[in-house]
This record gives sequence, structure tokens and C-alpha cells, in this order.
Amino acid sequence: MADYPESKYVYVNGRRYIDGPSIPYVLPVDFQEMDRQVLQSFMLDAVTESLYTAPIQHPRTILDVGCGSCSWMIKMASQFPGSKLVGIDIQQPAPDTVLPDNCHVELANIIGPRMPFARDSFDFVHHRQLGMAIPWSSWPGYLVNCAEITTPGGWVEISELKILFNYAGPIGQQIQRLLEGFTKARDINIRLNDTLDHLMAAAGLEEVHCEVYQIPVGEWGGQLGKLAWADYYHAISAMAPQMAAHHNVALEDIKYLVEALRDETDVNQYCCELYCHYGRKPASSSSSSSSSSSSS
Ligand SMILES: C[S@@+](CC[C@H](N)C(=O)[O-])C[C@H]1O[C@@H](n2cnc3c(N)ncnc32)[C@H](O)[C@@H]1O
Repeated sequence: MADYPESKYVYVNGRRYIDGPSIPYVLPVDFQEMDRQVLQSFMLDAVTESLYTAPIQHPRTILDVGCGSCSWMIKMASQFPGSKLVGIDIQQPAPDTVLPDNCHVELANIIGPRMPFARDSFDFVHHRQLGMAIPWSSWPGYLVNCAEITTPGGWVEISELKILFNYAGPIGQQIQRLLEGFTKARDINIRLNDTLDHLMAAAGLEEVHCEVYQIPVGEWGGQLGKLAWADYYHAISAMAPQMAAHHNVALEDIKYLVEALRDETDVNQYCCELYCHYGRKPASSSSSSSSSSSSS
């Protein structure tokens, strides 16, 4: 697939990762990862029972930042057939992805001084699961960019799973320490949900609100718990080779811990949380003549 032209790749254990300081994304960029994103989107849809949490009504223009497999954008396109949807990512969707006519994908790096859109372009800017993609030091500027390209009165939604488990036992805590050490070294903050409301307000968004959803993880949680475990298992396994290299431990040791974690999720009845933050761009924040008060 043809990707963002500046992307350089490194192959580890048969998986393809971005290589290079300008894009510190820790998950692989390959078809296997696209499959995980689709699985995860089934799980998230079941949790929220809605594609969005912000009180949008009839957005004319919708941006999906880091659209990945495009599963969210495709479902939104059928819910809002009269809207124009744009996805932005460093990678193309899988070649067999059929995008509805009101959707298209642009290749660009979302980290940097600005995104490739004019100010006041979108009534709804949606972001889901990019915590592993955006360096902590880039979050303030990133949110300012999101607010800038939103139409006055429009909404920005940031939806992020907290991948630190509630009720973690000794194995879960050990894996979380390994994960946090590895991500911190890349300036990725896996506790970002704790401060996102302040960052969104600092970016000029108003009416910032957060909905938190509890998700069971493991067989004990029925169908949803199995999906959540499968999503976690594939994600942590994809990061394991680089985590092992970072901590100078054997990959087999991390794999062993992850397998052992499966039982612990059931014994301790693990849960994780989905945080859906949203905030509104002030209606009078731009000199632009565009108004979304009736459209967002
Ligand atoms: C975990 S996936 C989430 C995909 C989608 N939002 C979803 O919820 O299914 C993160 C996405 O961010 C993209 N990404 C990572 N770093 C990026 C960057 N610097 N600029 C643009 N996209 C990036 C990846 O290619 C991947 O598709």
C-alpha cells in the first residue's frame, strides 16, 4: 500500500513499524494491525452504543483524525449521508476497503505545526485511540490544531482507552510497568486521560465534558470481555518485541507474562475504561463567516 511519503519502516518479528523520530507511533503499521482496529471498533461500539458522545446534530463536515481502518468513518457516513467526511492518517486503508462516496482519506502527519486543513473546516473533529501516536509534549499544540480547524460552535471529541487496568494483580502490574517504561521513553503518556480535560480547555474549547465507560476484560466479562481481552492481547503482543528490546529482557519472558495475564484477568475480574472527552469551539472564536450553530 502507498503510505505517507515520508514514512520509513522497520520490520521486527514479521511486523512493520514506523521508523523515525518524527512519528513515534508504537503500534505496527500493517494489515494485521488493521484487523485489530476493526475488532476494537466492534468492542467500542458495543460499549458506547453510539458512534460519538459529543452532542452533535447535523454536522456538514466531519474529520476523523488517525482514521486507520476507516471503520468509524464508514459507519458515520451511513449515519450522516449528507455530510462530507475526511479521514487523515499516515497509512492508506486496506486495499479492499470500500469507502462510501461521501468519504475520502488524506495522507499526512498529524504531529507538527499544523494539520493540512484551513481553519474552521469541520463541524465535528473526531479522534479515537491515538494515545500511542502523539507524544505528550505535542498534545497541547495538537489540540490547538484540532480546535483551529473546527468551525465555531462545532465539537472536538477525543476518545481514548485507559490501558492501565483496574484491579490489576501482580502479573498485570508487572506488564504495566514494562509498558509504561517503554512508552515513557518515546514521550507517550498512557495516563493522558487524567489531564485531557485541562488540555482541551487550554486549547480554547468550552463545555468540556467526559463520559467514562467501564469495560470488563477477560472471559468473565462475557462477549464484551472476550473482545476486550482479544484487543489487548493483540496490541500488547504487537508492542512486545520493542518493549523487550527497550528493557533488555527476553521477548519470550514478556510473552509468558502476557499468557499468564489471561488467567489473572478472570481471577481478578479485570476492567479497563474508555474516556470520551468532548468540547466545543466558542461560536465567536473566528473572523470566518462560516457558522455551525444550526449544523453541529
Ligand atoms: C490505534 S490506530 C486507531 C485507528 C482509528 N482511529 C480507530 O479508532 O480505529 C492509530 C492510527 O493512527 C495512525 N497514526 C499514527 N501516528 C500518526 C501520525 N503521526 N500522523 C497520522 N496518523 C498517525 C496510525 O497509522 C493508525 O491508523
